[in-house]
Amino acid sequence: MINDKFSVLLELGFSENTFSEVIAVTKLGSKWNCSPLGVKLNLKNRTLYFYVYEGAKILSFLKKQNIFTLNIVNEYSVFLNCVFKRSMEKEICKLTNTLGYIRVADAYIVCENSLPKQVGEGKYLVNAFVKEVVILRSKPRVFNRVLPAIVEALVHYTKIRPYAEIYGLTSSLELLEKIRHCKDTVYHASVDSKARNAIDFIYEEAVKLIDELKRG
Ligand SMILES: Cc1cc2nc3c(=O)[nH]c(=O)nc-3n(C[C@H](O)[C@H](O)[C@H](O)COP(=O)(O)O)c2cc1C
Repeated sequence: MINDKFSVLLELGFSENTFSEVIAVTKLGSKWNCSPLGVKLNLKNRTLYFYVYEGAKILSFLKKQNIFTLNIVNEYSVFLNCVFKRSMEKEICKLTNTLGYIRVADAYIVCENSLPKQVGEGKYLVNAFVKEVVILRSKPRVFNRVLPAIVEALVHYTKIRPYAEIYGLTSSLELLEKIRHCKDTVYHASVDSKARNAIDFIYEEAVKLIDELKRG
């Protein structure tokens, strides 16, 4: 039986089959932290679940049972700022001293997490129990190719360091090539200088990171 909160999650597009890319907002010590995560629905035990990899800051937060929000965000700049840890303080609306959501989110979900369960080498499964779903934006948005291309480039970027450690530098160079394809997509999709600067920035940061890894 699907309860109300879960019908809303289904309406929002969450699925048992497809990862939904959201942003977890947590408070680590005195600082707000935003971590993009891919989550799926588990309709049987009525949770959203996700995998967190060793090295992610959010893992230490999840090692205690905590309340946090998962945010549905359709702005590439927010994903960019989260990955590069540019100041998010002003982007966060505080609900309490330790609970907040992203100001420009279309919706947010208040969750309580299970303790992370190790399911592989450096890979942890976390269940999120949904407390509340809050919809902030009701107007539809037209689809464009900039957001998915930039989000895809960010996913590749976040894999560079761990892949270099596990599979070697060749795999990092393959990721750089994939980011270059994302750059082509953004340049085809838009002449907007903010979008082009964002993808140029990710590409340049990827090159810098690979150079740093090459130096050892
Ligand atoms: C769209 C997107 C989805 C991501 N999904 C996950 C994920 O499901 N699990 C994970 O551990 N890292 C994921 N990452 C990488 C983390 O977000 C990234 O390593 C981030 O820096 C972790 O944040 P934190 O260290 O502040 O917790 C994703 C990145 C992006 C851009």
